[in-house]
Amino acid sequence: MKIPASTTHGLDITTIVDGDIAEVIALWQRCGSTREWNNPAADIALARRESNSTVLVGRDKGAVVASVLVGHDGHRGWVYYVTVDPDQRFKGHGRTIMSAAEDWLRARGIEKLQLMVRGDNAKVHAFYKSLGYYDQERVTFAKWLDGREPTP
Ligand SMILES: CC(C)(COP(=O)(O)OP(=O)(O)OC[C@H]1O[C@@H](n2cnc3c(N)ncnc32)[C@H](O)[C@@H]1OP(=O)(O)O)[C@@H](O)C(=O)NCCC(=O)NCCS
Repeated sequence: MKIPASTTHGLDITTIVDGDIAEVIALWQRCGSTREWNNPAADIALARRESNSTVLVGRDKGAVVASVLVGHDGHRGWVYYVTVDPDQRFKGHGRTIMSAAEDWLRARGIEKLQLMVRGDNAKVHAFYKSLGYYDQERVTFAKWLDGREPTP
């Protein structure tokens, strides 16, 4: 899927293809977005398995500089791995890749996008607030379905 150039502000945004995977994982690692309990290759494969989720990739002059894993659960939209190359920040790429994720969800009839940010990550709070997101003051509960111990 190619998103019209008018919505990309310099980023060429496409749905991930096999040849993008290594570059996208490298981007996530550079951004500190991988966690020891997540396997990024498996996360990408799972996101691509069904039609309700995918990874969007933003390229500037051919290089992967932004990405987002976007999907919906049949009710709300969610994003993960919202990442912009550390050398390419504060140029609007984060806003642009999030706008592409919003368009992707709108096109599938999803009315609301939700996301989780750690409580102490003030910089990322500022980023999302700039994009019009607001704090819903919910508590997130989680449980590993394979029975493993809680992770932070
Ligand atoms: C968060 C992230 C995606 C922002 O990317 P970016 O391309 O620099 O963001 P943009 O240039 O599109 O900025 C959009 C707005 O957010 C603000 N913003 C971005 N980063 C910010 C920061 N660290 N502190 C304060 N405000 C910030 C910008 O000033 C801009 O505001 P404005 O349009 O009102 O002037 C990027 O810093 C990143 O990849 N961080 C590491 C991964 C991460 O934590 N992702 C979020 C996972 S929940």
